[in-house]
Amino acid sequence: TTVTISATASHPIPSTMWGQMFEDISMVTPGTSAALAGWKALNGNITVVADSTPVSSALPNALQLTISPGNANAVGFANTGNSGINVVPHTTYKASFYYRFQTASKFRGNFIVSLQDSAGTILNSQKVSISGSQTTWKQVKVSLNTNITPGSTNNMFAITVDGNSAAGETINFAMLSLFPPTFKNRENGMRADIAQALADMKPSFFRLPGGNNLEGQTFDTRWQWNNTLGALADRPGRLGDWGYVNTDGLGLMEYLNWCEDLGMEAIMAVWAGYSLSGTSLPEDQLAPYIQQAIDQINFVIGDPKKSEAAALRASLGHPKPFPLTYVEVGNEDFFAASSYIYRWHDFVTAMQAEFPNIHFIATSDTFSPILSPNPTEYDVHVYQTPTWFAQNSFFYDGFEVAQWDQIFRGIRASFPYRIYINKFKGEYAAISTNPNNIFGSPSQGRLTFPTMQSSAGEAAFMTGLERNSDIVFAASYAPLLGHVTNNQWTPNLLAFDAGSVYRSTSYYVQQLFSLNRGDEYLPSTLPEQLGTVFWSVVRNTSPKEVIIKISNTASSASTLTFILPFKNVASKGSLQLLTGAATSSNTPTNPNLLAPVTSTIVTGQTFNYTAPAVSVNVITIKAS
Ligand code: AHR
Repeated sequence: TTVTISATASHPIPSTMWGQMFEDISMVTPGTSAALAGWKALNGNITVVADSTPVSSALPNALQLTISPGNANAVGFANTGNSGINVVPHTTYKASFYYRFQTASKFRGNFIVSLQDSAGTILNSQKVSISGSQTTWKQVKVSLNTNITPGSTNNMFAITVDGNSAAGETINFAMLSLFPPTFKNRENGMRADIAQALADMKPSFFRLPGGNNLEGQTFDTRWQWNNTLGALADRPGRLGDWGYVNTDGLGLMEYLNWCEDLGMEAIMAVWAGYSLSGTSLPEDQLAPYIQQAIDQINFVIGDPKKSEAAALRASLGHPKPFPLTYVEVGNEDFFAASSYIYRWHDFVTAMQAEFPNIHFIATSDTFSPILSPNPTEYDVHVYQTPTWFAQNSFFYDGFEVAQWDQIFRGIRASFPYRIYINKFKGEYAAISTNPNNIFGSPSQGRLTFPTMQSSAGEAAFMTGLERNSDIVFAASYAPLLGHVTNNQWTPNLLAFDAGSVYRSTSYYVQQLFSLNRGDEYLPSTLPEQLGTVFWSVVRNTSPKEVIIKISNTASSASTLTFILPFKNVASKGSLQLLTGAATSSNTPTNPNLLAPVTSTIVTGQTFNYTAPAVSVNVITIKAS
């Protein structure tokens, strides 16, 4: 196959092209009485009570410790983390909690706040003196730092008292927290290793806060921006859409700081009157929710002198507005297309009046239903098989014409032109090898981790997104993060457990496209639509270089001849190659099986390149 590359760029690569989609999705709460999941009593009794004087109106409940007489041991409770706590020696862990005695007593003693291994061996502890007269809430903050290397990540954060002297006491606890050092040492920030892996992708946008998790199973359990801000004790949390409680410790301000730390733009969703259980709010009840959406946007970009929401942002340490160009209205509203007609209309009309420069992204099917005001952007999601992704590399080359023709059938049916309704590929992933049961279980073909084949399929599709990036302005794989065992969805871009983060082959594909995004698209001989080898070509204007991305989805190698239209083409270029057996994956037991390898290859104005079987290839050549 000969690929002739044009010297004239067809369009710039949008600055938002490759990014990340995030929602709180990966955590299983064992059992149904979720509140004590992850907690265990150490010699005493613990229960959850509705506190008569709660620590805050947001947190009405307390963890209650009762110390029965006749117990000479350390009595208390421990938290076992999200399937473990990684305790790294010579590292400072910040612990904090509130406590109060249920009734006043003469007791005087100490809390022992500790990190323990699974056998109960204390790795490090701090003594905090306490008095039974403390019947109002008091916050304790301690730092823990051990020089012991525990044998596993099955460690615990524990609080105990002496069983003898505290016998008969009842102590309530609330808002317990343990933090390792965070990414960029942000207060209440991100786990450093996961954050670093995300940062290494150099994403240009961050879609938040969902996904389904925006919507709530009911109107009342929707994600609400204003409930996710300020002191942790003032965040009520909510029952998220994936069956467990979200603490909202990772709230809107944390999201925005995170975007700032990584130089990303937020693509932020507002709730749009639909809950996942399938009900839409009637039109005459939308007004307060529209106002809540306007306040949410003002929190991000408003003027603190003019808007209370913006003043709140300033009070949280960020008087300057954050960048915000795109606001998504709901999520997957094709599920409630008929009510979206009035919901879109009422939300967008009001928000546009307030924020004329914001682009509002629709989430129903393109042109179905016809919406007013006319959307300029749609978010389109797809979860499919690796084969589907490869065979739909041309999805956006003909999509608009086909849709438009369908609407004006008979009037303009044969008039070929391209209309520029911008597309946000807000979620996509090859998740199953079974086209008849995409969302089934692993035994039915569902992938647990991305495979080389699924990632090559996504890469084939992404060459199409790049070629059509005059209409596809942004794209993000989903979901982004999944705990290795505690999850509701596989595969995920990054898997993690208490101690490690595992980069998948799809992660490397996203990273290869993001780090080599170029700034202009160079048209070239098109691949065969239903073939197995796909490519796209971009260039950087400074330094002047051509970047060729190739996905070979076939089980045999394929040789391509490239003809470059430039006079000065370097005789050597760099190759980044990700390849491996079709069904192989990076897994916790073999996390580094597959990763891109960089080498030098022979290039020139005309050169041959052989893309190995099931491979993603990025060739960079100095050319002017
Ligand atoms: O990414 C997982 C889920 O898939 C998202 O929450 C939802 O938008 C989509 O259906």
